[in-house]
Amino acid sequence: MKVFQIGAAGGVGRRLACLLVQRGDQVSGMYRRPEQADTVHDSGAAPIAGDLISDTVEQLAEKMIGHDAVAFSARAHGTDMDQTTAIDGTGLQKAAQAAEHAGAKRFVLVSVFPEALRGAAEPSAGFEHYAAAKKEADAYLAGTGLDWVIVRPGTLTHEQGTGLVTAGPAVVYGDVPRDDVAAFIAGALSEPEVNRQIVELTRGEDRSGGP
Ligand SMILES: NC(=O)c1ccc[n+]([C@@H]2O[C@H](COP(=O)([O-])OP(=O)(O)OC[C@H]3O[C@@H](n4cnc5c(N)ncnc54)[C@H](OP(=O)(O)O)[C@@H]3O)[C@@H](O)[C@H]2O)c1
Repeated sequence: MKVFQIGAAGGVGRRLACLLVQRGDQVSGMYRRPEQADTVHDSGAAPIAGDLISDTVEQLAEKMIGHDAVAFSARAHGTDMDQTTAIDGTGLQKAAQAAEHAGAKRFVLVSVFPEALRGAAEPSAGFEHYAAAKKEADAYLAGTGLDWVIVRPGTLTHEQGTGLVTAGPAVVYGDVPRDDVAAFIAGALSEPEVNRQIVELTRGEDRSGGP
């Protein structure tokens, strides 16, 4: 399988690239800052420069041609709402349109639990905006003709993966190691029968290598 990753130099992205390459997939990893090319290369993926904000849909599609699937784990950093809209919102829309143009039919999106960080003593407007942008992105992707899977992990941790998750259409909010999210996405990418589904994901008791 040929997989095109967006956010390949990130925490989930580079773990996912390592897993896909280890099992024999061909992986292209899109990164936006020149210094991230080595990170992508070290994961075993082929580094491809690109930017969800400055690239057009046509430019993104050109990079995706020849790939079977897209895995999107990009996100904006910080609380700049315009950046969040441009990356997590419009960026996802551009990526989905590009995948359709390029014929990369399978599309796995890393989203977020709708109830993440609810009930905080001091609610953050930036986080509320991020959560809303992610939800709009989910709705956009769900309306495309792609073979999509939306994965909504709980709070991501840097702990070593356990190989065990709780996954389903609605699970109780919790945290989950990035290792286990990457393993779950790797499994989802190669299971065509898991299609047009939203999967919430936390640490848990089931094997993490697929839905
Ligand atoms: N953190 C959590 O607890 C949590 C919880 C649930 C879901 N999520 C979601 O999980 C996913 C993966 O998280 P993570 O920890 O792996 O994130 P991460 O380490 O921040 O990785 C995100 C990657 O996206 C890249 N990116 C940002 N803007 C881009 C653009 N315009 N064009 C191309 N690439 C761009 C970043 O590059 P730069 O370094 O250049 O910005 C970075 O390499 C995200 O979608 C996030 O929203 C996170």
